[in-house]
Amino acid sequence: MNERILILGAGGQIGTELCEYLSRKHGSENVIATDIRAISHHDGPCEILDATDADALKQIVDKYSITTVYHLVAMLSATAEKMPEKGWALNMDSLFHVLNLARDKHIKKIFWPSSIAVFGLTTPKHNTPQRTIMEPGTVYGISKSAGELWCQYYHRVYGVDVRSIRYPGLISWKGEPGGGTTDYAVDIFYGAIKDNAYTSFLAEDTYLPMMYMSDAIRATVELMDAPDENVRTRTSYNLAGISFSPAELANAIKKAQPDFQIDYAPDFRNEIALSWPSSIDDSTAQTEWNWQPEYTLDRMVDEMLNGVKTKLNIKA
Ligand code: SER
Repeated sequence: MNERILILGAGGQIGTELCEYLSRKHGSENVIATDIRAISHHDGPCEILDATDADALKQIVDKYSITTVYHLVAMLSATAEKMPEKGWALNMDSLFHVLNLARDKHIKKIFWPSSIAVFGLTTPKHNTPQRTIMEPGTVYGISKSAGELWCQYYHRVYGVDVRSIRYPGLISWKGEPGGGTTDYAVDIFYGAIKDNAYTSFLAEDTYLPMMYMSDAIRATVELMDAPDENVRTRTSYNLAGISFSPAELANAIKKAQPDFQIDYAPDFRNEIALSWPSSIDDSTAQTEWNWQPEYTLDRMVDEMLNGVKTKLNIKA
């Protein structure tokens, strides 16, 4: 039977590009794009859906005979710190609704993203291992860490095929991030193109693991396509990407725009960033499903500068 895919949060940063990628792979008529707001970028079926509404979700699953759900709905780290209960409710309720659909055999397969936010101040900061101390300090991190354990539980107890990646900070120009601690690494490109300047809300030497969206999308699809027996980690996989600080990112931008100016006004998000790893060990993903990243810092910067110019209609 053909795969019939439902994307929750298809209008978001990951959803925008995943929707495009899966439409190319499976045909846009087999990709159902949903979000809390109307979607304009998809030429297959689109629906407005609140992922916390279990009945509405079930109706869409039935209506389109869905087999696979990519659950990309979440309140990210910076926003969830401002509304902890709402963040927890959104992140957890929506996950349970999707896990229960698979437990009750209405769908076959789930992708659900986790994050570097599952780690905390007591986690080894450099080359953070797949399995290590996890005491997340943010509401978002607590929700992702609990969610990982629920995924593992549903796999073990109910045989649910749920797969997950701990994404580093994601960098993209097609879809925009919102409410994350790692968003500076996207905002900086808009600052560079529009004003040749940017004020970073992270300190100059705050290192974080980051990843260009093309690598993240490829990782997601490769994990979903991996044979079941290879997916031996049912919490979530570490993915390393490229680690850099705001100062290093600014220097990479200066190679193309030598007059680019950066200054620093760290706020509460810098504290969050300091509790997260500076680099990640993703050898488990490499071993279990042959993960290999493609993007370097310079290649990512090049594509972002060109992409943001295209988006803003500025000649490269
Ligand atoms: N990018 C996310 C955030 O900053 C981390 O997964 O909240």
